[in-house]
Amino acid sequence: MFSRLTHYTAAHRFLLDAVAKEAELADPVAVCPDQYQWPLVKAARKGRAIALDGVLVHDWSPGSRRANPGLVLGARLYELEGVRFVVVQFAVDHYMDDAGLSFLAVTRRDYRRLYRLALKYHKSGETWSEPPILSEAQSAKLWKNTIGYLESDNLERIKRYGGRARRGVLLTGPPGNGKTMACRWIWEACLKRRWEYRLVTAAAFRDSLRGCDAEEKVRKLFTVQRRGVIFFDDMDLALRDRDKVNETDDQSVFLTALDGIQIKEGVAYVFTTNCPLDLIDRAFKRPGRIDLALNFQPPSAELRRRLFERWHSDLRAGLDVETAVDSTQGYSFAEIEELRNLLILRYADAGEWDWTWALEQFAENRDDLALRHRRSLGFAIPQLAANGWSEEE
Ligand SMILES: Nc1ncnc2c1ncn2[C@@H]1O[C@H](COP(=O)(O)OP(=O)(O)O)[C@@H](O)[C@H]1O
Ligand SMILES: [Mg+2]
Repeated sequence: MFSRLTHYTAAHRFLLDAVAKEAELADPVAVCPDQYQWPLVKAARKGRAIALDGVLVHDWSPGSRRANPGLVLGARLYELEGVRFVVVQFAVDHYMDDAGLSFLAVTRRDYRRLYRLALKYHKSGETWSEPPILSEAQSAKLWKNTIGYLESDNLERIKRYGGRARRGVLLTGPPGNGKTMACRWIWEACLKRRWEYRLVTAAAFRDSLRGCDAEEKVRKLFTVQRRGVIFFDDMDLALRDRDKVNETDDQSVFLTALDGIQIKEGVAYVFTTNCPLDLIDRAFKRPGRIDLALNFQPPSAELRRRLFERWHSDLRAGLDVETAVDSTQGYSFAEIEELRNLLILRYADAGEWDWTWALEQFAENRDDLALRHRRSLGFAIPQLAANGWSEEE
């Protein structure tokens, strides 16, 4: 235990000294800026990368380019309003708290100024989006199986007892009830922790299927080098092929590739689809691939009430919330948000918050859409086609 601690402090000291020397920072102070790092780094001018004791490993993973200094191991110089600081990334033991190995260094003279800049850019910069409204149980489950799963203490426990440092979560449910919003929430949690993340798009997935070595390319697409989360939003769109009928091939490449992924530190997969759970291929749903499925249904009265509470106070004051709650049963969150847009539109014309008008207008606007065919969803297509599902467009 003691020798481990002395190793740790020595490593930290070594890094700090090396950074001070390479970046010419007199009397350096190490800071763990947590959520302040992102706005600082974003606002600052990016300087050169710095090798520490000859070690500099660049990071090309596309997902993390904006949030990270583009390094797996090494340091990078930044400058913001005359303050120079260095982002050091040297977490070589991920089962240890990495504050001593991945930190921000600034000369003591500029420490206060950097803090003020951090406050300023944090305030003016990107505000974190609001988390989706979910039942407490659902929200806790989602968190525990993604971010919570990858937290150091859990990963360490898993390693100790021989568990799997990999978690697959599938979010299902009709459109407009927060699947993508939940992804954004988890993604932001990754950003704040400076973990790796990757958003796999349908286009990237399809590209990787082209040509030879499809399996290897897919595997790469779903691999993180460090601890991280990989999102595959609306995965059914990627696994469907509108021209050819080779979904099963794509699917088997996908599943085989997923199984063959080497886990480095820990990874959580978040897949989303509008396809109902019972229509999803059982092979995909088995534990090890998907460990948790969460169904995002239209909100209950209580969740709708919570949504209205987020609305602007003027709007709420001009609205009977209980009537609004009662009249939106079965509406998705996105549909209720559209009602708000209509309310605002009407307010501009009539100068009042007219809930009845918004409801009627909503029904009228949706009428046209309802006449269109229902779009077929899901990637367990052979069964779907056999069941007579048809595809729109
Ligand atoms: N659970 C939720 N809590 C709050 N707002 C929501 C929720 N679900 C959906 N919304 C609203 O509807 C919009 C669309 O939701 P989205 O997450 O894209 O749906 P999905 O991916 O399930 O189709 C969101 O941007 C948000 O404004
Ligand atoms: Mg979505």
